[in-house]
Amino acid sequence: MKIKDVLLNGISILKDNKIEDSNLKARVVLADLLGKNKEYLMIHGDEKIEEGLNKIFLDKIERLKNNEPLQYVINKQEFMGFEFYVDKNVLIPQPDTENLVEEIIYLSEKIRKNDKKELRILDMCTGSGAIAISTSKLIENSLVYASDISKKALKIAEENSSKNQANVLFFESDLFKKISELYKFDIIVSNPPYIETDTIKTLSEEVKNEPMLALDGGKDGLDFYRKISKDAKKYLDEGGYLAFEIGYNQKLDVENLLKENGYKNIYSRKDLSGNDRIVVGQV
Ligand SMILES: C[S@@+](CC[C@H](N)C(=O)[O-])C[C@H]1O[C@@H](n2cnc3c(N)ncnc32)[C@H](O)[C@@H]1O
Repeated sequence: MKIKDVLLNGISILKDNKIEDSNLKARVVLADLLGKNKEYLMIHGDEKIEEGLNKIFLDKIERLKNNEPLQYVINKQEFMGFEFYVDKNVLIPQPDTENLVEEIIYLSEKIRKNDKKELRILDMCTGSGAIAISTSKLIENSLVYASDISKKALKIAEENSSKNQANVLFFESDLFKKISELYKFDIIVSNPPYIETDTIKTLSEEVKNEPMLALDGGKDGLDFYRKISKDAKKYLDEGGYLAFEIGYNQKLDVENLLKENGYKNIYSRKDLSGNDRIVVGQV
């Protein structure tokens, strides 16, 4: 079959099933299968592709038809200019989370103004490793640790780390349970699960394909902020920072949690869409 016919068939299956961005999704999947860019398909529409490849393409179209996110189907997502392998065992790193990495870079520079030491950073709830890996690549002289409760997520994070030639120490832990209080960090960063349990059922079918373990923040969405802010201060060096990604409506609650737990210099930042996205506190 010719490229253009394979593509049109894929697009029409997706359109018939009312899948958003059918055209783009079918193109991205086929181009990825061929190891080319999307523009290649436009210019080489008459080129033939093997039946075996068409079958793989149709399997992937079927997955898209079942509302699987495009990133899981092609096993890729870009974050901070690095490429990450993703599948259904990890949350797809979101562009909004890049704000958190930028904040960590800013905080690192602030700490380094007074002290040129090696920075110790912990990314708690690391998932695909996106925050930890890009942080370790972008902040010189940093020692980055990253933890998650999910063994499957950690395996992916480790693969992502070696694929990007990063130097991150991953370990399995239910929040701080396995970390000795003798360990102290300059920055603890976390994008924990923060969706209210009841809101999960109202999310798009695509988001519902992401791991529940990565989404569910408990009844009011604040379970992880509560636990992490309570314990993190024991693991931060004096002057160290705790930095969270938050949901658009969680700024006041998370700021209050930090206040109640004795953090100082608390502030928040918005993302490019104008939504509150980050809360930071210092010990
Ligand atoms: C919202 S995802 C964030 C993933 C990644 N940091 C990112 O920004 O793309 C939350 C992560 O928390 C992990 N998690 C859930 N419960 C946990 C727990 N009790 N201890 C450690 N990690 C946990 C999940 O496995 C998931 O990988």
